[in-house]
Amino acid sequence: MGIDVVPSGQACGATVRGLDLHDMAQCGLDDATVREIRSAWLEHKVLAFPDQDLSDDDLEAFTLRFGPFGDDPFFASIEGHPHIAAIRRTANETSSLFAENWHADWSFQEFPPDGTCLYAKTIPPVGGDTLFSNQQAALEAMPADLRSRIEGRVAIHSARGGYAPDGTYGDDDDSDRSMQIRPSADAYATQLHPLVRIHPETGAETLYSVLGYIIGIDGMNDDPDDVDEARTLLTDLYHWQTREEFQYRHVWEPEMLVMWDNRCVLHRATGGYEGHERLLHRTTIGYNADVRTG
Ligand code: SIN
Repeated sequence: MGIDVVPSGQACGATVRGLDLHDMAQCGLDDATVREIRSAWLEHKVLAFPDQDLSDDDLEAFTLRFGPFGDDPFFASIEGHPHIAAIRRTANETSSLFAENWHADWSFQEFPPDGTCLYAKTIPPVGGDTLFSNQQAALEAMPADLRSRIEGRVAIHSARGGYAPDGTYGDDDDSDRSMQIRPSADAYATQLHPLVRIHPETGAETLYSVLGYIIGIDGMNDDPDDVDEARTLLTDLYHWQTREEFQYRHVWEPEMLVMWDNRCVLHRATGGYEGHERLLHRTTIGYNADVRTG
């Protein structure tokens, strides 16, 4: 079966039509279709599948065709589905918006997830778009002076800013947050990843993650005077990475499935839907050793 892939016309992203993922999940997505989707995913980095009537079982079955489930720390899962998290905001919620800062999912892990799937259950009539930023394009277009400043640098990642007891979603978080977040002292752990990485499937160089989950640069933080230098570099890099020219604005519809490639895009949630509920179910496509051994 040929799939119909329509590029967004923005810096990344495409819409895929011509598939009934519910039917396919019931009888097992065939290998040829999975290969086609994977190839479109690698090319466009973010794929949207509109008009998909998916159960939680279907969402899990789809996810598992692209890798193992990732390990989702700091979230509770929905009942009966340990690998699905609900990204939820009630109509009158006053808590700070979840995931409003640019990030690559769980980049603080030793083996961060390759991708994420998000399925729209309840979508507000206005607002609530998700922004993506193409980090391969950002690196390709980077001015030489900024490139020379990041060359060979290794970033220090941590979840502490969000999920530690004193983080954004920690002990002082607003009491009316409807998302089931589970802050923990585990969030203080750190993990190193190069700022520039080779995408394991496309072979392309890409920037990886961003200030937020990145809390410093290895070797620049030992001397207190250098902390500012690392911060300045990460801030300059942040401004470059998130420029509008590298972005794709995803506008949701109910029953739309989106999958993105965490290895080469950043993303962030946006608001603007006060008074309306928003609910999506999310799975992570874990680190897939198979695609790294060729
Ligand atoms: C996420 O980062 O998983 C959520 C994005 C969104 O709610 O738009």
